[in-house]
Amino acid sequence: MAEPVVTIAVDGPAASGKGTLARRLADHFGLNHLDTGGLYRAVAVRVLRQGGDPADEASGETAAQNLETQDLEAPNLRAEEVGQAASIVSAHPKVRAALLIYQRDFAATPPGAVLDGRDIGTVVCPEAGAKIYLDASLETRAKRRVKELRLRGVESIESRVLQEMQDRDARDSGRAVAPLKAAEDALTMDTTDLSPDEVFDRALSYIAARLE
Ligand code: DC
Repeated sequence: MAEPVVTIAVDGPAASGKGTLARRLADHFGLNHLDTGGLYRAVAVRVLRQGGDPADEASGETAAQNLETQDLEAPNLRAEEVGQAASIVSAHPKVRAALLIYQRDFAATPPGAVLDGRDIGTVVCPEAGAKIYLDASLETRAKRRVKELRLRGVESIESRVLQEMQDRDARDSGRAVAPLKAAEDALTMDTTDLSPDEVFDRALSYIAARLE
């Protein structure tokens, strides 16, 4: 008999806590973890490295089709400007199509996976056994990102981080293909006033009930 595959979708905007939650859930359940934002970031890094324009769909499609594992190790993968460029390349339908098969294959590999991103519960894995959508106020998310950057030795101006995040949210939510939004059957959680442990505990109770 085929091994059962468990899929957990975690979606939300930047710094909503989805990466932290997805990693903890993957550890807890012994599942694989895929940070799908990293794929779009790696596509953006490839386009920028080749002197291309993230707004050009053909450059993005070629970069997505030629993506290699080592692209996910790019030292500037987490940089804010790469996040912006990733948000631009991710609006191209051909870039999304090129990355879709990889994400679905990853999810289908036993024992299953926790995938975090923007469209996991709605487009990539609409059949996921559990779907979680995290959000938090823009101010809180900007503060978290500034703190995270500081821990990496990067000083940043909070008002600028906030503005860039707002631009990115608008682009990611407003695009025609697979926009950022909660699946209708997702557990939605506002993490503004919650600790990572509280988010994890609530997610665990919900998943336990869903996967029973
Ligand atoms: O989660 P992140 O900040 O690393 O994502 C970078 C960008 O990638 C984000 O602004 C939009 C895009 N993205 C997407 O369109 N779909 C996903 N499933 C994940 C990320």
